[in-house]
Amino acid sequence: MIKKDLMKILSNEEIADNIFKMVVSGDLVSELNEPGQFLHFKTGTGAEPLLRRPISIAEIDKENNSLTVIYRAEGRGTKLLSGEREGAFADVLGPLGNGFPIHAEDEGKTALLVGGGIGVPPLYELSRQLVKKGIKVLHVLGFQNRSAAFYEEEFAQLGPTYIATVDGSLGSKGFVTDVIKEEGLQFDLFYSCGPKAMLAALSSTYGDSKGYISLEERMGCGIGACFACVCEKAVNDVDKNYVKICSDGPVFPVGMVKL
Ligand code: FES
Repeated sequence: MIKKDLMKILSNEEIADNIFKMVVSGDLVSELNEPGQFLHFKTGTGAEPLLRRPISIAEIDKENNSLTVIYRAEGRGTKLLSGEREGAFADVLGPLGNGFPIHAEDEGKTALLVGGGIGVPPLYELSRQLVKKGIKVLHVLGFQNRSAAFYEEEFAQLGPTYIATVDGSLGSKGFVTDVIKEEGLQFDLFYSCGPKAMLAALSSTYGDSKGYISLEERMGCGIGACFACVCEKAVNDVDKNYVKICSDGPVFPVGMVKL
C-alpha cells in the first residue's frame, strides 16, 4: 500500500562524486518488498521545489526498520536533499511503481544484472533477493570514471562483479556491453537499469533473452495521474500505444517499450 511517511534520517553521506547514500527509518519500510520500486521524496521545506523527486530503493532492512537510497545531487531538489543531516526527517511517499520480478527463473539459474551510473542502486536490493532465492548473480556496472563509482565491494560480496568506466580509470575501458562480450558472460536472464542508450544497446544485443529493464524518466506525480512520464510502446497495441513509466513500470519486459 502506498504510504506517506515522515522518515527519520539515520545518515546521509557522499559516497562518490556527487553521489549520496541516505539511510532512513520509519513505518513505510513495512510496505516494501519488491526490488526496483521507487520512493518520492519531498525536498525543501516550503512550496519550492514543487515536485517530489523519484529515488529508487537500494536496500531494504526490515530487521532495523530502515531503507537505503542512493541518489545523484544534480538538480535543485536532490541538492537540497544532500544537505539534510542525521536526525532530521524526510517526507517520503511510496512504494511506487512495479519492480523487478524475482520469480522469473528457478533456483540454480544465473541472472546477469547490468547497471549504469545512478541506475546501479536498485540492482543491489534485487541482487540480494535473487541470491536469497538461490539464483546465481553476475554484475556488470558501468560508470563515467573511478570517482563516480560506488558499491563495487557490496556487489562483489553477492557475486562476480565486473566494472566498466568510460575513461578506463577503473575496471575495463568502455561500455557494459563490451565487458559482457569480452568476458563471455553466460546467463539465463538479465535485469538492467541505467541510461536509455545503455538499455537500447543491451536490448538490441540480448533482445531474444529473457530480460527486464527499468527506465529512468522525468516524473511529475509518480502515481499515474499527470502523463509526464509517458513513453511509446515498441509493439503495436490498438488499445493503448503508450505506457506510464511511474505506474506501469518503471520495470518492463525487454522489448515492450520503444527506446
Ligand atoms: Fe505523473 Fe507518471 S509521473 S503519470
